[in-house]
Amino acid sequence: QGADVQDAKDADQEEPGSSRKDLPDATEQQRKEAAEKGLLILINKQNSVDKDYKPEDLTPITKYYATDRSEAGRYMREEAARQFYKLVEAAAAEGYELVMTTAYRSYGFQQVLWNNYVANEGEAAASRFSAKPGQSEHQSGLAADVSSPSVNYALTESFGKTDEGIWLAQNAHKFGFIIRFPDGKESITGYLYEPWHIRYVGESVATEIYVKDLTLEEYLELYGF
Ligand code: DAL
Ligand code: ZN
Repeated sequence: QGADVQDAKDADQEEPGSSRKDLPDATEQQRKEAAEKGLLILINKQNSVDKDYKPEDLTPITKYYATDRSEAGRYMREEAARQFYKLVEAAAAEGYELVMTTAYRSYGFQQVLWNNYVANEGEAAASRFSAKPGQSEHQSGLAADVSSPSVNYALTESFGKTDEGIWLAQNAHKFGFIIRFPDGKESITGYLYEPWHIRYVGESVATEIYVKDLTLEEYLELYGF
């Protein structure tokens, strides 16, 4: 038995990501269903939504939010909202506190944010971390920015190194979320690393994206969306 245990340990060392790789891909049917529910919508610098785009099933987020942020941002699409609660509760069960700072944003809200960033930092700098109105995934009702007390609820790159940020990166897929702007993928996503920005795509697709370490852009390209 001792030798078996040692073998298992050796195998672990050879294949540190082995448990991650064992998770199944989404089936064609699961991808189709996610797409039909609008969960695979791509909003980025190349794909805008128009001014009056507004998801139909926006639901108020009634718990687990930062109270000092705008109430207008406390909405998500219904399924995403439900899954967001489950995510936060699973984190809490392991001793990690996560809260949402902002989720849904209207075109007008995004316009105000963008204008402010451009005024303060110039357009070139702003465009690496903020979307122009019409190009923000927050307009989909499927995205949320989350943070934790260990970084004072700030949206900062160092959140990714906190216990909460690490837990989020390793577990978000179980609830259907992906880290939408991973480190080192700016050339694909158009944005700097945002360990706090999660995007709902449904559990099966999120799991495949997590396992294969892809961006949403790469995933949709892979399956010809
Ligand atoms: N920070 C992300 C890119 C947004 O503004 O939607
Ligand atoms: Zn965000």
